[in-house]
Amino acid sequence: MRRLKPFISYFLRSSQKITIDSIPDGSVIDIGGGGEGIIAQIGNERITAIDKYQSEIDEAKSNAPTANWIRADATDLSYSDNYFDNATAFFSGIYMSLETFEKVCMETYRVLKDYGEFWIWDARISNNKDLYIIRLQITLPNGKKINTGYGTRVRNRDIIEIRQKLVKTKFHIEIVENHGEWFFIKAIKKK
Ligand SMILES: C[S@@+](CC[C@H](N)C(=O)[O-])C[C@H]1O[C@@H](n2cnc3c(N)ncnc32)[C@H](O)[C@@H]1O
Repeated sequence: MRRLKPFISYFLRSSQKITIDSIPDGSVIDIGGGGEGIIAQIGNERITAIDKYQSEIDEAKSNAPTANWIRADATDLSYSDNYFDNATAFFSGIYMSLETFEKVCMETYRVLKDYGEFWIWDARISNNKDLYIIRLQITLPNGKKINTGYGTRVRNRDIIEIRQKLVKTKFHIEIVENHGEWFFIKAIKKK
């Protein structure tokens, strides 16, 4: 344990702090919900967590066993129009090309009810490195702290591109918060 201490304190010092006070109400589709299963840990049985990879689902499932875990590509969902009350994507956009993200926005828009909200937390990637890693210390509404990191080969991704894709797919932007290395956007399906 002693040998791990320098590593843990380095990790905590360099990590971005995110406090999640709440998630949307009702039935929620969580896009790219595997990995840690952050949104599923908060909303449990209200959450339908979609992930393209079974390995990511297997990793997350024990953290929130009562959530609905579905292996699916979020660019092509099997749900009918207006099925979910709300949607979330927690650091999933950085695992997608912008072209894929646009398709995901279109599908999310379709399966949301009118006035459904899409809450997005994601990274602002301003470098050109082969691998970008963001370290996070996430505080859940119940006070639980989760230290984790997400790595991606996506380059130069910022709020503006995500915002453009949301607007292009007819979402209205309600809130944009810039937190330095990460951002939060709340968009809404309004006719
Ligand atoms: C960084 S992880 C997200 C972290 C996760 N939300 C959590 O709570 O820890 C990104 C996830 O998006 C998933 N993903 C990427 N493209 C996808 C797609 N087209 N459809 C569904 N999931 C996708 C990946 O498999 C990966 O599990």
